[in-house]
Amino acid sequence: MLKFAALLSLTFLIPAFVDAQASLYAQCGGTGFSGPTTCVSGATCVFSNPYYSQCLPGTASASTVAPTTTAKPTTTVSTGPTTTPVGTTTVTSSAPGSTGTPVAGNPFTGFTIYTSPYYAAEIQAAVGNITDATTAAKAAKVANIPTFTWFDQISKTPLLGTYLADAAAKQAASGQKYLVQIVVYDLPDRDCAAAASNGEFTIANNGLANYKTYIDQLVAQVALYPTVRVVAVIEPDSLANLVTNLNVAKCANAQTTYLAAVTYAIQQLNTVGVYMYLDAGHAGWLGWPANIQPAAQLFSSLFKSAGSPSFVRGLATNVANYNALVAATPDPITQGNPNYDEQLYINALAPLLTSSGFPAHFIVDQGRSGVQNIRQQWGDWCNVLGSGFGTQPTTNTGSSLIDSIVWVKPGGECDGTTNTSSPRYDYHCGLADATPNAPEAGTWFQNFFVTLVTKANPAL
Ligand code: BGC
Repeated sequence: MLKFAALLSLTFLIPAFVDAQASLYAQCGGTGFSGPTTCVSGATCVFSNPYYSQCLPGTASASTVAPTTTAKPTTTVSTGPTTTPVGTTTVTSSAPGSTGTPVAGNPFTGFTIYTSPYYAAEIQAAVGNITDATTAAKAAKVANIPTFTWFDQISKTPLLGTYLADAAAKQAASGQKYLVQIVVYDLPDRDCAAAASNGEFTIANNGLANYKTYIDQLVAQVALYPTVRVVAVIEPDSLANLVTNLNVAKCANAQTTYLAAVTYAIQQLNTVGVYMYLDAGHAGWLGWPANIQPAAQLFSSLFKSAGSPSFVRGLATNVANYNALVAATPDPITQGNPNYDEQLYINALAPLLTSSGFPAHFIVDQGRSGVQNIRQQWGDWCNVLGSGFGTQPTTNTGSSLIDSIVWVKPGGECDGTTNTSSPRYDYHCGLADATPNAPEAGTWFQNFFVTLVTKANPAL
């Protein structure tokens, strides 16, 4: 809801687009909308939800972007792999991805990474609010650096079809192969050990069934675009919370559901050939000697009991966190943990995974890791004050275990609010080493973004 609201406001922030016809990706309908309801040539106004229609590439006959009926389904969906996807799209069992086998080797190799128009619009609006010309020019470059798109609400799932259609068109026009990066992030009772990113589904209110519908809707979109490769990070923090936070009542209560939901996600996304990296926390979480073996066991047991889905490529580390891949010197806050950076954590985890039958390949988020030694505690994760953009995405990782350095968290989107009266207030966001005056998680945080730009390392 929050990020979606941000999208709505962004479209109004781009006045040049408001004309007799709405431009590509602009809003073109929805409750309370008074702008143009037809799109420029080459785009079609596509219903997304009762509050939002959007101009998407293609003509009216392009029925590939299917509307969903409601933001939050109330029907129970059966669980088997033959489940018919919900919504108006139908996916046959002969969908090209359904019988595919993953490529051997690094799934990023040879692909152009799709850059999100949503993030580009956020950057464009942000740049317009930067007065210093040098900073603005640097900030504008960020729009061309690929990040992941977070599907943090079921109402956003049609956007995946939008992006895949756009990537397919770009692929056809350029002859280059495209890869779309997504985060699957809508577990019931999400973020069980924190507050800032609590989600829309609850276990008590049909959460697992709702989650399965959410997954089905993502799967239905992917199945429509078999020529575009999709890479997914699966459920940040979820399994890590099951390793270390079962003393938190909400996590203990969520354990069975998380396991069932993640199992369903990887099984279903496997049927349409989505390359998956399960979230594995970071060095300062699961990298501690007491946690690393239990973590490896959890990943491998879940993987095996799900039937060892072949498109599970490995693990994602440091998602939305701030650790270095290779720290020049250990940050004093890491004292006591021999795995004081992501490379050390990965090197220690890989053999444990391999020996228990889990594929030991990794991607590592470095989006906000440019500046080190700025936290007071290793566990501080919220809008860390003084952060800079980090190493830009590359498959030149320096490690055969690491498929790609990536930017999973779109830098500039907030980690959590400082508003103590918000139901999603988390005390980490009010700490001295967190950036003050923060809005809700997922919404744009201009001051934080400007610091990421000015402190980028390497410089933008
Ligand atoms: C928020 C999500 C958001 C994501 C990426 C998370 O912390 O909870 O709503 O999509 O960050 O910015």
